[in-house]
Amino acid sequence: MGTDEIVLDVSDVSISYGAVPAVRGASLQVRRGQVVTLVGANGAGKSTLMKCVAGLIKANAGSVKLNGQEMKGASADVRVRHGLCLVPEGRRLFGGMTVRENLELGAYCRDDARAVAADLERCLGYFPDLVPKLGAPAGTLSGGQQQMVAVARALMSAPRMLLLDEPTIGLAPAVVEKIARVIHVVRDTGVDVLLVEQNAEVALDVADYAYVLEGGTVIQHGDAKALARDERVQRAYLGM
Ligand SMILES: Nc1ncnc2c1ncn2[C@@H]1O[C@H](COP(=O)(O)OP(=O)(O)OP(=O)(O)O)[C@@H](O)[C@H]1O
Ligand SMILES: [Mg+2]
Repeated sequence: MGTDEIVLDVSDVSISYGAVPAVRGASLQVRRGQVVTLVGANGAGKSTLMKCVAGLIKANAGSVKLNGQEMKGASADVRVRHGLCLVPEGRRLFGGMTVRENLELGAYCRDDARAVAADLERCLGYFPDLVPKLGAPAGTLSGGQQQMVAVARALMSAPRMLLLDEPTIGLAPAVVEKIARVIHVVRDTGVDVLLVEQNAEVALDVADYAYVLEGGTVIQHGDAKALARDERVQRAYLGM
């Protein structure tokens, strides 16, 4: 899957919290048409790198290019307008607002009302479980349904690239499968995906290409299915 065209180019990025380094010289690339995953244990630096790509925290060094354009100094909002959309760890829905309101908020920077309405229908087609819940406060939904709202809300921004931070954590296998299916559908509609997961089994299954992050450094990368067969990856991340 994917072409040679590089959509996201993260090059030699280092990030610290105060004096404490969290990401050390990490590089990764997402090519057009790909689902790329970044797997790694708890504390490896996955969310830190994602937040940096989304423009929520600054790198100390390195560069993040989107479609060849340097994003350094661009705010998260500017990056959203460039088509980058983050679904953060823990979802961050507006629990007191209805599902419909949460989804509409995802489209806050669009003014094409008809296209927004069509995208809402499309998202509900991806996640039919949400249709009867549109009028319910998002906070009353199950964890799986809330994750569906979070993914759908991101899609409502009409992204060109989706950044998903642990979308399947704590969810039942049936829900994980639904989300995995939608990730593929989304990729096939031309949205590139960078997926962060502690659950390497799910991630390597869903992704085309994978990076392994350990202690803030990329220690291995390659075709996702090949990595899933790699002995070291199996021992460290797949419990084999
Ligand atoms: N806001 C913060 N302030 C200080 N240190 C932080 C902060 N957020 C993360 N860290 C530290 O940075 C390192 C990387 O954390 P990060 O959250 O990026 O890991 P992760 O790979 O996403 O882990 P998880 O799988 O648990 O989500 C960890 O050592 C963590 O303790
Ligand atoms: Mg994390």
